[in-house]
Amino acid sequence: MSSKNTNVSYGWVSKCFHWIMLVIIFTQFYIGANMEQLKMGREHFSIGLGIFMLMVLRLIWRAKNPVPEMPEATGKLQTMAAHGLHILFYALLIGMPIAGVAIVQSKGFPVSFFGLFSLPTFFAESKSAAEVAETVHEIFAKSTFIAIVLHFCVAMYHHFIRKDNILKRMLPGNKE
Ligand code: HEM
Ligand code: HEM
Repeated sequence: MSSKNTNVSYGWVSKCFHWIMLVIIFTQFYIGANMEQLKMGREHFSIGLGIFMLMVLRLIWRAKNPVPEMPEATGKLQTMAAHGLHILFYALLIGMPIAGVAIVQSKGFPVSFFGLFSLPTFFAESKSAAEVAETVHEIFAKSTFIAIVLHFCVAMYHHFIRKDNILKRMLPGNKE
């Protein structure tokens, strides 16, 4: 299987990004939603920075590869909605870590990546900025959750009702 995407299917690099990140993002949601009980604030911050880095790499990879075309029967509006939802994922999953860093730094704490390095200070200490960042982080988290549910339903609709190759071309082992 090719590492690069073709006009009809995803290559293995895009597939790895997609499915590995799904596991990381679900873990991050679980930790985020139960941070106080789990006492895993530092891990949440580090994983969030990791997601940010992976999303930027993934965006570069997407820009350098063809985006597989939708099946012929798909309307223009539906194609635009599908691509729009994909772009929304990039915006939310890059924006959410930035808002997260803003929360922590504007409360006066440092952010480190698994103790390997600390981020420079991008946000000065400010109670009001921390509150705004918390609201943005929460809205982005909820929007991402809704987008994932929608994306999952669309994928299932294609696979079980339309019976096209949309899900298959994102799964491992598909050699198209
Ligand atoms: C894409 C990556 C991230 C995801 C999916 C995510 C998800 C979440 C979720 C679901 C919550 C609980 C709901 C909420 O109050 O917003 C949360 C809370 C929080 N996250 Fe993240 N997060 C991410 C990245 C980060 C990063 C990089 C940081 C900091 C460096 C961070 C800092 C925080 C903090 C401080 C809270 C508690 C907010 C509060 O007390 O209201 N997050 N996150
Ligand atoms: C819940 C299970 C999931 C399923 C069944 C699923 C399924 C799929 C399928 C079938 C495609 C290919 C669409 C096409 O060919 O046009 C796709 C693409 C995509 N998915 Fe998912 N997905 C899931 C979760 C996620 C999550 C959690 C994210 C969050 C980042 C995500 C982000 C994307 C993006 C950005 C694309 C576009 C391709 C790319 O830029 O790499 N998916 N997904």
